Amino acid sequence: MNSTNALYDTARALVAPGKGILAADESTGTIGKRFDSIGVTSTEDSRRSYRQLLFTTPALGEHISGTILFDETIRQSTDDGRSFVEVLQGAGVIPGIKVDTGAKPLAAFPGETVTEGLDGLRDRLSEYVALGARFAKWRATITIGEDLPTDGAIAANAHAMARYAALCQEADVVPIVEPEVLMDGDHDIEACEAATGHTLAALYRSLAEARVDLAGSLLKVNMVVPGKGCPTQDDDVAIAEATIRCLTSNVPEQVPGVVFLSGGMSDEHATSRLNEMNRIGAGGLPWALSFSYGRALQGPSLAAWGGDEANVGAAQAALAHRARMNGLACGGAYRPELESSAA
Ligand code: 13P
Repeated sequence: MNSTNALYDTARALVAPGKGILAADESTGTIGKRFDSIGVTSTEDSRRSYRQLLFTTPALGEHISGTILFDETIRQSTDDGRSFVEVLQGAGVIPGIKVDTGAKPLAAFPGETVTEGLDGLRDRLSEYVALGARFAKWRATITIGEDLPTDGAIAANAHAMARYAALCQEADVVPIVEPEVLMDGDHDIEACEAATGHTLAALYRSLAEARVDLAGSLLKVNMVVPGKGCPTQDDDVAIAEATIRCLTSNVPEQVPGVVFLSGGMSDEHATSRLNEMNRIGAGGLPWALSFSYGRALQGPSLAAWGGDEANVGAAQAALAHRARMNGLACGGAYRPELESSAA
């Protein structure tokens, strides 16, 4: 069937060699926090100006395969009246859309959440398809703590993600399933590996039960890292090895690609750890390993912009630089010395 081929083509295009995804789907609350950090007031127009800066970055499509948009953003246009979707398509960047409505407290599971957004999803997906979206994202958050995560919270999130993924494929939209084991806490890398492994195993059981075609899907996940408060911070090699081990045990080989979130890692760690995985795994892994970073791609650009129109060029150069560094990391060809060519 043509639509199945289109799903496969889109999934593969999103993880094409040397390319990854720009996550620019911050909800209004989250982008507000990012703007607070640079002293910019978040309004519909300041958000539009900032996203315009990102999407009109010269040669964006060189290292960016797709961009995840928020509901407000997929409807917005540039100053000269071109829709963002049109601008992205013109740059060879595939538009995508965040369709979950956020993580909410899970009843009877103190300290844990379940991500909502299934109600009305079939209709919302057809609207997003009409607006130009070809892939979607749903993020579930998993917390490590005393006796956490529970099997109950992992199962609730896996079930919701599987239903979301099936609805996406029905609408010819590639689902990115994103279980994020959070870095908050003082747990060690072994605890992250165990939680990530259990989460992925449950997720792929649910996706199989929901009859999701894995070849037309992507996984977005955290790297296996110690908590932010853990006294032992492992090096890139240990993180890369633990992450590859966890993925190899739990992610079926039909999945064309795994894209990482940055989750609060520094920009350069997000790049060097991805590089290390591709260096170690070179040629031997069933899936492409790439990026779908929000903060680790946008951070330097947001800081360079500071809300001032005069800084748009510098902000775009900062984004292009991070995209290029991460593009190199997809092939294991990144070196820290290359950072000095930064804008
Ligand atoms: P970060 O890279 O900032 O974690 O964002 C990626 C993302 O899309 C989280 O859902």
